[in-house]
Amino acid sequence: MTDGMTDEIFEEGITETIVTTLSAAGVPNAAPMGVIKRGESLFIRMYPGSRTYANVKETGHLVANIVTDPVLFVTTAFEDLENSYYLPQQDMPPVIKDAYAWAYFKADVQGTVKLSTVCSKILKTRVPRFSRGFASVIDATITGTRLSILGQPGKSRILDDDILVRKCGTPRDIEAMDRLKKLLGLSA
Ligand SMILES: Cc1cc2nc3c(=O)[nH]c(=O)nc-3n(C[C@H](O)[C@H](O)[C@H](O)COP(=O)(O)O)c2cc1C
Repeated sequence: MTDGMTDEIFEEGITETIVTTLSAAGVPNAAPMGVIKRGESLFIRMYPGSRTYANVKETGHLVANIVTDPVLFVTTAFEDLENSYYLPQQDMPPVIKDAYAWAYFKADVQGTVKLSTVCSKILKTRVPRFSRGFASVIDATITGTRLSILGQPGKSRILDDDILVRKCGTPRDIEAMDRLKKLLGLSA
């Protein structure tokens, strides 16, 4: 279910976030995940096998962070996040430093992961700016996490996204794309 504040953060459809969780032993983790809003319901289609899924099963909670740094999406999709990016919180997983907003959810694994808001915070606002460059980095990163299924067509799609990033993106988008290609062994 959503409340007033999460209604302002999440729109109908899929919002790409970085989910932070803690293991039962208290080790933090961050990974990109899409928060889906359908009417009043919020949920994530979480593939079993990720650290995030294991943590949610163990602790029943997660934080969805709204961030706009494309490098963070690439890094957290494939690597551990440096501790300096986490802002520790009392009795909940850490939030990501420089997040525009976050929402702390009770998370019930019932096929999908159903989310109920515990609390949320909007920390910063900015002029809305739509960039095909940023969208292409995000799309390429999702494709990158599925390359074992998508194979060569997935690689071609990433290289098409790369062209758009170079045409429309910010220097940070290009840095993120270069990092992604390096991680995936797609650099020239
Ligand atoms: C933008 C983006 C959105 C993603 N959304 C999801 C998602 O909704 N569900 C999911 O299971 N994986 C999703 N992924 C893939 C995970 O982030 C990826 O499997 C990651 O390696 C999991 O990391 P972890 O093992 O640290 O949890 C997404 C990846 C990206 C780049």
